[in-house]
Amino acid sequence: MSSTFFRTKKVEQSIRDTEEPEHALKKSLSALDLTVFGVGVVIGTGIFVLTGTVAKNNAGPATALAFVVAGVVCALAALCYAEFASTVPVAGSAYTFSYASLGELPAWIIGWDLVLEFALGTAVVAVGWSGYIRSLLDNAGWQMPAALGGRDGADGFGFDILAAALVLALTGILVLGMKLSARITSIVVAIKVAVVLVVIIAGAFLIKGANYDPFIPASKPVEAGGGLHSPLIQLMFGWAPSNFGVMGIFTAASVVFFAFIGFDIVATAAEETRNPQRDMPRGILGSLAICTVLYVAVSIVVTGMQHYSELSVDAPLADAFKATGHPFFSGVISFGAAVGLTTVCMILLLGQTRVFFAMSRDGLLPRFFSRVHPKFKTPYRPTILLGVVIAIVACFTSLSELAELVNIGTLFAFVIVAISVIILRNTRPDLPRAFRTPLVPVLPIVSVCASLWLMFNLPAETWVRFAVWMAIGFVVYFLYGRTHSGLARAEAQPHKE
Ligand code: ALA
Repeated sequence: MSSTFFRTKKVEQSIRDTEEPEHALKKSLSALDLTVFGVGVVIGTGIFVLTGTVAKNNAGPATALAFVVAGVVCALAALCYAEFASTVPVAGSAYTFSYASLGELPAWIIGWDLVLEFALGTAVVAVGWSGYIRSLLDNAGWQMPAALGGRDGADGFGFDILAAALVLALTGILVLGMKLSARITSIVVAIKVAVVLVVIIAGAFLIKGANYDPFIPASKPVEAGGGLHSPLIQLMFGWAPSNFGVMGIFTAASVVFFAFIGFDIVATAAEETRNPQRDMPRGILGSLAICTVLYVAVSIVVTGMQHYSELSVDAPLADAFKATGHPFFSGVISFGAAVGLTTVCMILLLGQTRVFFAMSRDGLLPRFFSRVHPKFKTPYRPTILLGVVIAIVACFTSLSELAELVNIGTLFAFVIVAISVIILRNTRPDLPRAFRTPLVPVLPIVSVCASLWLMFNLPAETWVRFAVWMAIGFVVYFLYGRTHSGLARAEAQPHKE
């Protein structure tokens, strides 16, 4: 029986499946499209919202170091992702990679985990977007009724109608086709990067050296009752729960890690790339490098403009300009953030539907979802289904509750991908690899340890929620996927290769 769980899908089979016309996606993306895609999804709620939260609560000016830590963890993972993406250029990202190397059950686990990452990530960003839009409406003198402003703003019942409307509108765009969304994405990405540069350049003139003192604020104990809210590592080792100090940088890194989520989605678009062997590694590493530099610069500037204890947690970049007497820049930044978060949301949604599509094409989820649209050539069924579900989640959930859950899911995917690189090198040394991860197995092992380290710095309650989601996934696999998968059916008819 255990051999069923570890049956692997041959890499050649994965590539062949993408060539069946009714399941094929259009190959239209170049390395530049991928980089734009990467930057489009990576710069978002993380830098625009979470920078302020972690500077205030966990790390002070040392938030810049937290971004460096998170960036290093991502770069290690990116080097593993790039090898897989350039070897297995098929929709589905870490899911496909692990199906080719670890086997069906691990692949299911990772696919299920990616669905969590992208779906909740989309919801988190939609809620962040709606906050910026409300603040812009507010500037223009229009107030949304509290009950339509999301759970955070309302007393008792409240739903975030703007967040839901955004997700549904983007769903429509994705159904209409990949090229259209890539074109819109590049315009929006340009606006977003311009706004980030405005923050860095204009903000640099407003820095006060005193705000950097101390750069790493001294560690402060958290009041009793931290319990499940404390990082798992503090509970594991019985350390007194604390904020700030050196450990605070790691706690902050495990949260701002959200700011990097998305570069792995570049890998999910492999099947739609014209020359994946060459362009995937460029797209993934390029977008990651650009974002890391921008994040470090933004966090240094913002914590220099305003003392970390005074930073706003809703719109820290815009509010830092307001606080220093520059409301014009504040408005421009709010506008750019609102525009920029749109693409983040769209690409997360896209990555999400592609994973779902790949799982359905393999029969682990109903095959009904893997028919592409006859005219638009997009996987419209999972796009519509997931768009509606995410719109509902975005309507009724609050941002902070979900971001950490998204992080743990993504870090878990990194662990699996790094392990898969080592396994696939041993089981399929013959495969052509356009990009080879350097220093295998040392680098993937370091990547696993680094990802686990950030996971251990997440709150214990996040681990509990993640375990519950995974348990549901096991039930679905054992009730459906195990018997319906394409490989299971092939095994039932051994004569038909
Ligand atoms: N990295 C993306 C963001 O920060 C998900 O919004």
